[in-house]
Amino acid sequence: MTEANTQPEVNIGLVGHVDHGKTTLVQALSGSWTDQHSEEMKRGISIRLGYADATFRRCPGVDEPECYTVDEECEDGSESEPIRTVSFVDAPGHETLMATMLSGASIMDGAVLVVSATEDVPQAQTEEHLMALDLIGIENIVIAQNKVDLVGRDRAVDNYEQIQEFVEGTVAEDAPIVPVSAQQEVNLDLLIDAIESEIPTPDRDPGESARMYAARSFDINRPGATAEDLKGGVVGGSLVSGELSVGDGLEIRPGREVDEEGQTEWRPLETTVRSLQAGNRDVDTAHPGGLLGVGTGLDPSLTKGDALAGQVAGKPGTLPPTREEFEMEVDLLERVVGKEDDESGESDIEEISTGEPLMLTVGTATTVGAVTSARDGECEVSLKRPVCAEEGAQIAINRRVGARWRLIGVGTLT
Ligand code: GTP
Repeated sequence: MTEANTQPEVNIGLVGHVDHGKTTLVQALSGSWTDQHSEEMKRGISIRLGYADATFRRCPGVDEPECYTVDEECEDGSESEPIRTVSFVDAPGHETLMATMLSGASIMDGAVLVVSATEDVPQAQTEEHLMALDLIGIENIVIAQNKVDLVGRDRAVDNYEQIQEFVEGTVAEDAPIVPVSAQQEVNLDLLIDAIESEIPTPDRDPGESARMYAARSFDINRPGATAEDLKGGVVGGSLVSGELSVGDGLEIRPGREVDEEGQTEWRPLETTVRSLQAGNRDVDTAHPGGLLGVGTGLDPSLTKGDALAGQVAGKPGTLPPTREEFEMEVDLLERVVGKEDDESGESDIEEISTGEPLMLTVGTATTVGAVTSARDGECEVSLKRPVCAEEGAQIAINRRVGARWRLIGVGTLT
């Protein structure tokens, strides 16, 4: 890796229970704070996906794992060498925000599960998030046992054993468990070492069609900007395959809802890529990994306030169809995960029935659908808001249980 090329090459999800220290850990590794939205600040929880890039570095002449650092200067004053830039996707731990966490899972190449040593294992969302990783098929996992500065040795060992027991038989069974203190920056070298060996950069084919999942969209103009100064709409998200260059044509689906003579339909948007921002700098060509900002020629009113979040972008004519309804094969969990004892509602998961509403996450899109027909292991849904998805796409299925949407299984679009 050269110093000039610090575009992140892999997306690593930070998941785990609320307040277990995900945001603090990202900050320790990247020096940036992902909770950027003012509403998040007010509520004190992450409500949207946040991305933060970190360049892992190595101090020359020092043995592993002590050689690993995020600082440019080594303890002996020499300069560290960059190894790899990664992008952390900070997913919210708050239970009602599970849909956002699942949207994030679609763009994660691996995950760090943060578990606080100060609480018994598992807490509700620790379990729910691990189940989501399992369902979505994210296998490269590192477990950070955080806040070890707050507990004594015995408690830390007990908690470590609880984590081991909890992950037995799950996708994280063989994941390394690294005791850390995000706040005191203890054992970050060990954590980087584990991430380097467990979460490699996936092999990608630059010849594949470009496919970008939009997680956000913006109008970057200041109020009162004059017509000449007006900048086109910006779409933020992650490329999951292919490459995108300035000047390329761009199609975005489902696009926008058009109402003509009482009929509404969704029409794809077409534009060109005017600028690209990756790894916090302007680039001519973007690759998968990290948060990509695409400046377009779209009317900024179309991209304002995350209007295009959940949509899919790529070169014109290469995108999957827009679907207002679809059929899926369904694989249900055995019981509701992450439910607190005092919550109402059944714990066993019953078959999906015709007429019931479901909340579905497809890629970065979350939509509500009504079940129009349900058979053994299969169902058809009609969506309130269409999605752009191809056959074989994975769908996270949520049902209302008590007062909340709960993950009940995974679907495969047929
Ligand atoms: P959500 O984004 O709301 O899900 O929370 P989070 O998991 O990102 O937790 P956050 O990083 O906001 O940390 C929660 C609290 O724990 C904050 O007050 C942190 O300062 C504190 N904290 C995080 N890591 C550590 C640690 O290693 N040691 C100690 N002592 N406190 C920590």
